[in-house]
Amino acid sequence: MAKKVLIFKGSPRKKGFTQQLLDELIRGVTDAGGEPILYELNSQEIIPCRGCTACYTRKGCSIKDYLSPMYEQMEEGASIVVASPLYYATITGITKVWLDRMHPILDGEHWGSRYPNLKYLTIFVSGNTEEDPMAEEGIDFTERSMLPFSWNHIGQIWVKYTDRPDFTLSDEVKYKAYEYGKELARE
Ligand SMILES: Cc1cc2nc3c(=O)[nH]c(=O)nc-3n(C[C@H](O)[C@H](O)[C@H](O)COP(=O)(O)O)c2cc1C
Repeated sequence: MAKKVLIFKGSPRKKGFTQQLLDELIRGVTDAGGEPILYELNSQEIIPCRGCTACYTRKGCSIKDYLSPMYEQMEEGASIVVASPLYYATITGITKVWLDRMHPILDGEHWGSRYPNLKYLTIFVSGNTEEDPMAEEGIDFTERSMLPFSWNHIGQIWVKYTDRPDFTLSDEVKYKAYEYGKELARE
């Protein structure tokens, strides 16, 4: 069975730099025989975590919406990509909503991961035209927030300075995204 690669895209822009990187990554997944599944976090109705804590005692989420299939896909061993621009030095609001909805992957008794060892990649895109220490903190905080999932972080792509006039993605970073796509698709 083809390995599923779940891609959580936190940029609202249809042809922005996040999407351009994902286009390359998706090509890599497909070339390696994997099945890319793109979750467009902005284009669907996603209900924020209600804090009902039902997931403390049983698997899955009591909310039934666009995100519902992801829990079973993770249980089956899918790979994960979290891709977000930086907005106010951190992930976009809708990406944080997704993160809160990830709570059911922790078991409420020991706070261990129900689905550990999944391969995952983080992608960040930042527009600031000068070095910004706050962005580094935001990224670090985001990745540390996901440590309880006990996933295997295979790498990070961080593309900076996208708001510079005439900015384009380098061939090097596009290739990197493509290669990560292939790696995520492998068992
Ligand atoms: C509301 C908003 C807030 C932003 N905040 C930051 C920021 O704090 N730091 C930064 O480097 N870029 C910031 N940017 C710039 C975006 O990260 C940049 O334009 C990026 O390319 C957007 O990703 P996309 O091309 O995939 O849409 C912000 C953009 C918007 C619209």
